[in-house]
This record gives sequence, structure tokens and C-alpha cells, in this order.
Amino acid sequence: MAIDFEALEKAAKAAVAGALDQEALNTVRQRYLSRKGELTGALRMLGELPSAERPAAGERLNALRQALEAVLQVREDELGRADEEKRLAAEAMDVFLPGRRPRTGSVHPLRAIWDELEEIFLGMGFSITEGPEVELDYYNFEALNLPPDHPARDMQDTFYFTPRVLLRTHTSPVQVRVMQATCPDPVRIIAPGRVYRSDAPDATHSPIFHQLEGLVVGEGITFADLKGTLTAFVRAVYGEERRISFRPSFFPFTEPSAEVYVSCTCGGSGCRICKGTGWLEILGAGSVHPNVLRMSGYDPEKVSGFAFGMGIDRIALLKYGIEDMRLLFENDLRFLSQFSAQG
Ligand code: PHE
Repeated sequence: MAIDFEALEKAAKAAVAGALDQEALNTVRQRYLSRKGELTGALRMLGELPSAERPAAGERLNALRQALEAVLQVREDELGRADEEKRLAAEAMDVFLPGRRPRTGSVHPLRAIWDELEEIFLGMGFSITEGPEVELDYYNFEALNLPPDHPARDMQDTFYFTPRVLLRTHTSPVQVRVMQATCPDPVRIIAPGRVYRSDAPDATHSPIFHQLEGLVVGEGITFADLKGTLTAFVRAVYGEERRISFRPSFFPFTEPSAEVYVSCTCGGSGCRICKGTGWLEILGAGSVHPNVLRMSGYDPEKVSGFAFGMGIDRIALLKYGIEDMRLLFENDLRFLSQFSAQG
């Protein structure tokens, strides 16, 4: 019986060429070269050949085995390269593609001014305090020399929860809380925070806004100290060239009382922000009323003090030239992003 080497070789090579992936190639290798494979089978058949034909047939079979191993190797390399190419193509990226820049946030203009004001007063030796937004009528009005039915209560439209509990209409109740906690020691604090008034929102009003209260109590504190402190403050916020004007006013908790104005950048030429007056009102202030000192435990014969309260929102509007207060509270990114360093 003869071995058809030609046919075996042809079939094996065709099988190798037809293997489309590593797995298929392994099957081909098994089929021809494993212990039960076809070439091994042919090797066994050598014994049945006449002895004269055996060496030549053996040689032929070895050559075939080597040839088959070689083509298997070549095909395996080929398939490996194809796999690698496929993987690289799938992972391909354009390293020159411009990156997507993440949106970075920015400090809210109100917060920026708030921080700036705090820094200025910290620099002048004030410390920072806070008080509750839900407040007792006692702290918001009564202990500030505004007894029940006092007509000056109408100056501020108040949100009441009950007749005794309300949303604070100003930061002045913190004055009372601090004095009662500190008496008889001297006081030098600022108290920034949110306040509430029952106003319809428009370009210059918001039912929620922010104030920064200041209070100094001690021996020998005079109105001149108030003027000096606020003048230094105005210069620090607005610049050295600004002028400051104190005008008589009325607050039940200060006596005498003043409204404080800062000169407008337009110099009085008739701009919209100062309505042509050349002056912008920025805060209320005065010497602490003796009744207020007394109600919080101090002896007005021994100590005196001054207090001031300013609208933080208003200062931000004036500083940044923002024309509508509502912009500060709407959190519209088109507005807010104008304050980011990135623009
Ligand atoms: N609390 C006053 C207001 O809201 C401002 C003020 C504070 C005035 C302290 C005098 C002293 O209008």
C-alpha cells in the first residue's frame, strides 16, 4: 500500500491557508501533527511498506512534517500580525485632536465682595460673628429700641412666622446678641449675613439680600471713630480718590444717626447709577443709642459705641456696574461666567 504524499501535502497546506484565526490553526495542527494526527498515522503505515521503499518514504514523511511545521509557523505569524493590526486600529486615537476643556467655576460676585469686605475689617482688628436668620422680635426690634407699635417698625416690611418669631429684616439683631454675650467687655465685630424683607423683586430690591453689620463698644468711642473707620473702609473698597459724605438720618438704635454716601465715579455729571446727584448711598450708621446699650447690660455713662450696616449686594452692584439686583440671585451661567478668570 502506497502513501499519497502529494495529496496529503496539498490537503494539509490548503487547511493551513484556510485557517482564519489562531483557533482554526490549532485545529489544523492537531489534525496533522498530533499523536493521532494524519502524519503520525502515515508514519505508522511505514512499517507495512516493503523495506526497500521505507527509507525514501520515511525521508519524504519527515520532509513533509518539517514543511508543514514551517507553513504553520508562517501562518501563525501572519494571523498574529493581523490580530495586532486589528487591535491597533481599534485603539487608534488622534493625538493632535484638541482636548475638551472642563468648565471651571468662579467665585460669585457677591461672595467676592463679601470676602473683600471681611478682609478689610479683619485688617482693622474686627472679628467676624454671625447670628440666626430666623430671629425673635425681641432681638430684631425690641432690644434695638423699637418697642411694639413703634412707628419705625414700618420702615422694614417684615416676614412674620408668629407675632414673636420672624425672618430678620437686618443684621442689627446680631449687635444685641453680641453685646449680651460680651458685656461688660468691649466689642469690635462685624456680622455679615442674609436678611429678608417683604419687597417685590425689581432691579433694586430683592426679598432676600445681604448686609454687613459693624459694632464697636468700649470706653471713649466717639462719632469721630465711626467717621475714621468708615472713611478707611470706603477708601479700601472704592479707592483713595473717592469722597465720603455723612448726612443726618434717623435709626431708632443709633443717636445721632447718619446715612453715608460715597462719591460716584461720574463726578456728578448726571449718570444713571447716581441719578445725577454725584453721590451713592452705601450704608446707615450712628452712635449706639444709650437705651440699646442699657438693654444689653452696658452702662451708657461708662461706655459708648458706634454701629453701621451696609448692603453687600448694593456694594457689589456698584463695584461691578451690574444694573439689576436680580442677576445676583438667578444663577444664570451666562452672567456668572463673566466673573471667572477664564472668561
Ligand atoms: N439696620 C439698619 C438698616 O437695615 C442699618 C444700620 C445699622 C443703621 C447699624 C445704623 C446702625 O437699615
